Amino acid sequence: MDTTTLIDLFAANPDRGSQYSASACGLYFDYSKDHLTEQTLDYLFKLADAAQLKPAIQKMFNGELVNNTEGRAALHVALRGGGGGGGGGVSAASKAGQKANQHLKKVVQFATQIRQGQIKSSTAKPFRNIVNLGIGGSDLGPRLVVSAFPEHYHTTLQTHFVANIDSDALTATLKQCTPDTTLFIVSSKSFSTLETLNNADRANTWLRQAGIEGQLLDRHFVGITGHRDAATQWGIAQDRIFTVEDWVGGRFSLWSSIGLPIAIALGTEPFQQLLEGAREMDEHFRYTPFEANLPVLHGLQAIWHINFRNYKSRAVLPYVHRLGQLPAYLQQLMMESLGKTTTKEGAAVDFSTGQIIWGSEGTNGQHSFHQLLLQGTDRQSIEFIATRSAHCEAGSHRHLNSHCLAQSRALMEGKSQALAYEELLAEGASPDEADRLAAHKSVPGNRPSNTLLLDDLTPRCLGALLAFYEHSVYVQSVIWNINAFDQWGVELGKEMGNELFLLLNKTETMSVAHEQMDSSTRSLLGCLHNSIDGPRES
Ligand code: F6P
Repeated sequence: MDTTTLIDLFAANPDRGSQYSASACGLYFDYSKDHLTEQTLDYLFKLADAAQLKPAIQKMFNGELVNNTEGRAALHVALRGGGGGGGGGVSAASKAGQKANQHLKKVVQFATQIRQGQIKSSTAKPFRNIVNLGIGGSDLGPRLVVSAFPEHYHTTLQTHFVANIDSDALTATLKQCTPDTTLFIVSSKSFSTLETLNNADRANTWLRQAGIEGQLLDRHFVGITGHRDAATQWGIAQDRIFTVEDWVGGRFSLWSSIGLPIAIALGTEPFQQLLEGAREMDEHFRYTPFEANLPVLHGLQAIWHINFRNYKSRAVLPYVHRLGQLPAYLQQLMMESLGKTTTKEGAAVDFSTGQIIWGSEGTNGQHSFHQLLLQGTDRQSIEFIATRSAHCEAGSHRHLNSHCLAQSRALMEGKSQALAYEELLAEGASPDEADRLAAHKSVPGNRPSNTLLLDDLTPRCLGALLAFYEHSVYVQSVIWNINAFDQWGVELGKEMGNELFLLLNKTETMSVAHEQMDSSTRSLLGCLHNSIDGPRES
């Protein structure tokens, strides 16, 4: 493939566009602008067979302990009504399905009552502002879905998301809220995440300063967690705790009780449609032969890109303003799942895993980072996402889609130096000038990209899209034999953060830990100590 260009591949096969694309569940996936042939796919399917992908898919659906380092199942599919159906893990999956139903019922009931103003604040007023306090998986999914569908917003309810421990984030949100009509959702599966608990404490102080104290506070907080005791200890009332089961990973949790802000902000119908779209993709993933299976094709293509083509990053470019949060969501899903150096059995891997995921809404990037995609030295995986039926004004939708298609063509076709030279002459440049500039104006081309078309920008299609990415991640993890469902790396940062907080707060200045720290961190601590003038926290 190093000596074959994309243009050659299209010239050799006029049907390449339709042959190397597949559709299901409202998604059309075009992977034809890539350096692969039937033979490449054949090798990849053989690799999938050798890695036992088919049984691995069944294991996940059956509720087997695919998260082996934490001894847990990964049954997010049960939250959408799937799972079970064969083997020894059936009961685990169907029990999970029953639990999922109970939790969903509670979410639907509570969201409906909030939206209808039946659940009231401490001053017997309907709520006007919902503030979700959560981070990572307890923030990114609901934030993405809520921002995608403003047409479903309740007329008198506003939903906000605060993740950062930087107090400015919460302060900015609280400026838009009134204490006696604000409900805080403290969303944390572990109920031990520093950022979230810090913000919850600040919210508590804000309410108390407004005279909402004691039992009245209960009416202004909801907890979503897998650790009921910790939530109770913090002060959430029993009837306001929503459960997240331990078989739901944080980055796979928007379908669980963590989706409560979605059901409140958009209504319970759109939330259920989101789940249905994901469920359709689950069925497709589970039962469709690999040759037409969207997540399998996408996951195997990612293996091709990472391990055989050496593409280090993946740009996710939704040509849909309302999907502007998608790259951030996929960063957690893909990078937290696939950033691993150890096989499931604990051996060091001797190949690359994962990619840097980045991107932003199109067309904005065309006026900034697309330069590197088009003329930089290295190739990347690039994913264009667009809608078929207009999600915005028809004229602007056509502009978006023409830009989207143009970018993938420009990446593939490029512009030769000879053509750039001719164009310069035609524009009136002298031959010397044209000669000097032609190399700069030429674009290498032969750069691959995928295009994903959503039938509509609806909760159902978005559900299918997100499930598509979840399953692609699982495919990659199975091929590499890594655990996609743990995240031990991020734990180290938390431990060190706690230690440094004590030092920065000067509660432990001359400790052994401080003495043993590297000189860079010690110098930085010195600089920061000299400029701290605010009150210290414990
Ligand atoms: O620190 C990483 C992480 O554990 C993510 O995996 C998770 O989604 C996020 O933090 C939030 O965790 P929690 O819901 O327990 O607060």
